Amino acid sequence: MIVTLTDASGCRERVSASGGSGAGPSGGRRVGGVTPALPTPADVDSAAERIAPHARRTPVLRATVDGRPVVFKLEQLQLTGSFKLRGALNALLAGPRAERVVTASGGNHGLAVATAAGLLDLPATVYVPESVPAAKARRIEATGAKLIRHGATYAEAAGAAKTDAAAAGRRYVPAYEDPLVIAGQGTCAAETVRAESDVDVLVAAVGGGGLAAGTVLGAGGRPVVAAEPVGCAAFHAAVGAGAPVDSTVDSVAASALGATRVGELPFAILRDGASSVLVTDAEILAARDRLWEEFRLAVEPAGAVPFAAWLAGHVPGDLPCLILCGANTDWTPA
Ligand SMILES: Cc1ncc(COP(=O)(O)O)c(C=O)c1O
Repeated sequence: MIVTLTDASGCRERVSASGGSGAGPSGGRRVGGVTPALPTPADVDSAAERIAPHARRTPVLRATVDGRPVVFKLEQLQLTGSFKLRGALNALLAGPRAERVVTASGGNHGLAVATAAGLLDLPATVYVPESVPAAKARRIEATGAKLIRHGATYAEAAGAAKTDAAAAGRRYVPAYEDPLVIAGQGTCAAETVRAESDVDVLVAAVGGGGLAAGTVLGAGGRPVVAAEPVGCAAFHAAVGAGAPVDSTVDSVAASALGATRVGELPFAILRDGASSVLVTDAEILAARDRLWEEFRLAVEPAGAVPFAAWLAGHVPGDLPCLILCGANTDWTPA
């Protein structure tokens, strides 16, 4: 028998009433014998209502590329320059109020948490890997948040952030391993399919899997393609292994998609909810350059991954929605 509890964070948990394995039916992450319940499409609807006063409804652009129609979801125009604000806001609005919010990020999640905390009048500390791009570091610091550079990878920065967040009154906001964050990310897809109901497939880039998992929940049953660089393929590796495993991180999109391992909760949603496709760095950069050349759309490499997957012929359907998920890059006028 499965019992669902709600803790102070608004995060429901499933426990096995028999005291047995505690693993939820869809294989969520176990924490001390307790498995956080996976978020649902209804959680995405609640998140959409919750974040509406603060987040932008981003526009879409319908276009024809190589004679075929596509819908670009212009999520790079979201406040902070990426979809990450959606999950950060949902987590902070639905969870317990902390004295200080702590997070770790390759950049965009940190900027989103720092901005969401600022909107809600909360101080924030953001840990980033030492390799964080200057544009992302500068923007995080501009929110007034404390920026701490630590370690070579996202995983190392996250370790230090979790130690910091263990102090009384602090709250750690995960980048993707969290039901509220996943539900918040799902509002991007939900907003799209509500307005553009003829979209028949959605494509999302994957780092730790929060955006893609949320997209599955928000897509209204449409198929979802989870696209990754060959050199940062944490979801693809998990599909091959049957469970999240460590993988290498080496791509032009690594600052956004460089999770060493896909999250347990996202994977539980994605394993049956999305198909995995890979694109090369050359394909990502070519897609990014076409977005600029043909549409004057400026995105960071991660933001071009869905378009690269479509250009490479990896996306089924007649009217795909390609989520342009971020644009935190430097721009220099000629
Ligand atoms: C622009 C952009 N796209 C995609 C992702 C991947 O998101 P997730 O970690 O939820 O898979 C990130 C993560 O930082 C990002 O910044």
